[in-house]
Amino acid sequence: IKTIGVLTSGGDAPGMNAAIRAVVRKACAAGKNVKGIRRGYQGLLEEDIIDMSRHSVSDIVDKGGTILFTARCSEFRTEEGQKKGAEICRKHGIDGLVVIGGDGSYAGAQKLAGLGINTVGVPGTIDLDIACTEYTIGFDTAVNTAMQAIDKVRDTSTSHERCSIIEVMGRNAGYIALWCGIANGAEDILIPEKYDYDEQKIINHIISNRKKGKKHHIIINAEGIGHSTSMARRIEAATGVETRATILGYMQRGGSPTCRDRVYATMMGSMAVDLLCAGKSNRVVGFKHGEFCDFDIDDALAMQKNISNYMIEVAGDMAK
Ligand code: F6P
Repeated sequence: IKTIGVLTSGGDAPGMNAAIRAVVRKACAAGKNVKGIRRGYQGLLEEDIIDMSRHSVSDIVDKGGTILFTARCSEFRTEEGQKKGAEICRKHGIDGLVVIGGDGSYAGAQKLAGLGINTVGVPGTIDLDIACTEYTIGFDTAVNTAMQAIDKVRDTSTSHERCSIIEVMGRNAGYIALWCGIANGAEDILIPEKYDYDEQKIINHIISNRKKGKKHHIIINAEGIGHSTSMARRIEAATGVETRATILGYMQRGGSPTCRDRVYATMMGSMAVDLLCAGKSNRVVGFKHGEFCDFDIDDALAMQKNISNYMIEVAGDMAK
């Protein structure tokens, strides 16, 4: 490997910059050239490629977002787009590529590997929804940001003796909702993995809590269930308790990464470069059982992620 490219793809996540920095610095230390591909696979197809050096990643370890920008690219899902991408890599001398993103981004890396470009994926998503790893860059910051925001909503909810439905991100996964539900002491947590669509249970819970003298009722609703505003209207009508919906939205994806996100991003970005330097391709970096590790992309994409039933049980016990 002579030249390593790096791109960020899909939704941005705090810590992506720390991962980019690690890739660049580790590659430079190994005597490789480094090229940054801006705006993910879209930028690759448009040849939006820049030279990078140790200095081009100064002062970013603490910054949210991604200095390389990011995008979702439909053209890269086509065979034609993938072939064009591989050709552009060859034209720019990029023989190894680090892709920082989620499952969708790994699928692109897998295709490029099949076309002769050595690729390694690094898990970057706030959703924690990648099966091969217990940790994804950005989750820790996002869940802390959401937790702090929910604490604030809880204050005003208590003052007004309201019920609050707070919707958090996570696409089809309920990790942010479950973690916030536990951290914020929510009365109900709705996650797509376990939702039984029985709104009456929630209504009964609110009514019985009111009878016990509880001053608020916090419901954390995962984006994968959604419809928080209409849910609030129905709950208010059925319980007589004033109910408001708050959708936290994109603020969960921004902000300075936590220590954990910076450190894990640095470790994972470095490991991706080590794998490329060792001649590996079609791999993804992960974190399992307390160790950084790597998997074949094909195996990683075939794995199923199971949310912890024990965490769900404990969350339920806390809210009784
Ligand atoms: O994958 C991260 C994420 O923020 C999800 O939680 C959410 O469903 C999605 O991205 C939103 O994507 P977009 O930026 O395209 O609206």
